[in-house]
Amino acid sequence: MTLVGRGVDRVDAYAKVRGEAQYAGDVAVAGAVYAFIVTSAIAKGRLSHIGTAAAEGSPGVLAVLTPWNAPRLPHANQKSTPVDKVVQLLQDQDVSYAEQPIAVVVADTSERAREAASLLEVSYAPEAVHASLAAEVGRGRTPRTAGPRAKPDSERGDLTAGLASAAARVEGTYTTSNQHHHPMEMHGVVAVWPSKDSLTVYDTSQGIFGCRARLAAIFELPLERVRVISHFVGGGFGCKGSMWSHVALAALAARVGRPVRLVLTRQQMCSLVGYRPRTIQRLTLAAAKDGTLRAMRHDVISETSTFDEFSEPSALVTRMLYACPNVVTTHRVVPLDVPTPTFTRAPGEASGSFALEVAMDELAHELGMDPLALRLKNYAERDPDEDKPWSSKSLRECYRRGAAEFGWNARRALPGSVRDGRLLVGLGMATATYPARQSAASARARLLADGSVVIQAGSQDLGTGTYTILAQIAADVLGVPLERVRVELGDTTLPETPVSGGSQTASSTGSAVKRAAEALKQKLDALTPAERAARPELAAEVRNDEKADRQHFSTHGFGADFVEVKVDPELGSVRVTRAVAAFATGKILNAKTAHSQFMGGMVWGIGLALRECTVRDERSGRVVTRDLADYHVPVNADVPEFKILVIDEDDPHVNDIGAKGIGEIGITGMTAAIANAIYNATGKRLRDLPITPDKVFT
Ligand code: MOS
Repeated sequence: MTLVGRGVDRVDAYAKVRGEAQYAGDVAVAGAVYAFIVTSAIAKGRLSHIGTAAAEGSPGVLAVLTPWNAPRLPHANQKSTPVDKVVQLLQDQDVSYAEQPIAVVVADTSERAREAASLLEVSYAPEAVHASLAAEVGRGRTPRTAGPRAKPDSERGDLTAGLASAAARVEGTYTTSNQHHHPMEMHGVVAVWPSKDSLTVYDTSQGIFGCRARLAAIFELPLERVRVISHFVGGGFGCKGSMWSHVALAALAARVGRPVRLVLTRQQMCSLVGYRPRTIQRLTLAAAKDGTLRAMRHDVISETSTFDEFSEPSALVTRMLYACPNVVTTHRVVPLDVPTPTFTRAPGEASGSFALEVAMDELAHELGMDPLALRLKNYAERDPDEDKPWSSKSLRECYRRGAAEFGWNARRALPGSVRDGRLLVGLGMATATYPARQSAASARARLLADGSVVIQAGSQDLGTGTYTILAQIAADVLGVPLERVRVELGDTTLPETPVSGGSQTASSTGSAVKRAAEALKQKLDALTPAERAARPELAAEVRNDEKADRQHFSTHGFGADFVEVKVDPELGSVRVTRAVAAFATGKILNAKTAHSQFMGGMVWGIGLALRECTVRDERSGRVVTRDLADYHVPVNADVPEFKILVIDEDDPHVNDIGAKGIGEIGITGMTAAIANAIYNATGKRLRDLPITPDKVFT
């Protein structure tokens, strides 16, 4: 009986509940002092002066770094990968966004650092702030790429002819809000210089090797002189995928000759570590009478900073999800006096599938068709964008099983026709999808003299269960019990692996671990028992490239969400009362942790639909919703019990372990399914997120 697939408990569960698992900000380093980042009160302009005397004279203060005295770092913004961000390391007096780092105070305690920070006398030469996306839309420009890789614009077929040949057409503008990741664990770092030319950083990171590369470039050190350690991460969702200013600032502060601990406050998380940008999406869908799509146009505008570029790739989903011959998509970015946005759980697909899947619901209504039937009518048998077959696709099965479990057939098409007491009841559905990525990864498998196995890979476990699934994979290959496998992750001295973003860790690092365990087994099998007994240890290390097969296929996970909402017509409040989702994402490695990933994504879908919204004061450029009292995430009372169905796929092409990655697909589709259910309940087509009570009852 194999371990892979079974819902075994997390191997790190006991360490976590006992408090033995050390997160970056908690790591005990002898002699560590504390740094606090001081941030700008204005969003645009220049610093004219920072008076440091009072802060420097404050008890326990060791250093105050400002743009006037900070060491020069000529390579502060040398980028090498698409996830690298422009950072602010006190190299000049420019202010480009509110709450930008402008100084760092180092003191013997956290409280003294913060107290001294409050004593800085900062004067500014402020300039006019441009922070309104709506007002600045005219300054939109074409980004270099949509997301990290895709081309910003696409065109297939003849859009004009497609539109002309259609019997029905819907057009709408869909807007999504700023969303902050707000993982439970705030960004924290401990930086140590063991010698003048070697740096060790404990960081909460989704990508320790990327962090190492940035630090090496900034401090002009060879890669091997920089070590980044991230043993446990308390949630990432994208904000921990790039190295941000505070990590390098902690290392800079540690030049005082003491290890430096720096943990961001919840408020600082609103400006220093990225966010999902707002989008304005214009969509046109046109179809023949029978529902066959004839034309789709999806134009996306999102915000970025004035000094760096991130484009939310919301239209990528429209390129590939349905079999439509005539499709145009565009992405534009509008530079504002705001921090740079970044990857946020299912970047692009989360916000884009909201627009597309609500538009599909509108088209179904326009045609008098069942929304599910419309999707089946336009089922893509191959990827129409890449013009390749799917490596596997069981979306039809997701629709069928999800609809049956949910009781979709009982839906009444006429909005407002079902009541539960004074509440309006509505049903909605939408399609979920996310790419199945894989990158090259390395791993090492060791068999120790006592018969136990150690698996080593750089990687990092964001809380998703990476330690556990890697142990399951290795135990199966080597035929040992799970308890005999120890997994070591989160250290750049271990074999190199990719960033844990884009739902690719299981696929990439999981495949490498499988290959390393197989290589170890081969070595073992080649030895006689006497030879084995003579060796203290046997080890195998592999570098596993992306599966060659993949280039011939388009690789995506798919799913279908079905949602029931109850709307209070007098208060405008919306409750998600039932949710059924069916996902087909290749092989499931651990039934329990997979369920948690799908569920977590769906909860995020509720957040995006109904709750989450970073409010920025457009006059000052400052974030108003600076804590979890103002920034509303769904709480237990907002989340019904989800029924999550998993359709097993045997995909021999996608990667060596057949698992498609499940960290992000859960949020896609869910938001649209909720908006569509609200329409079914109320007859109100709400296209602006989040759908708060004021929008529902007006
Ligand atoms: Mo994910 S937004 O790629 O961490």
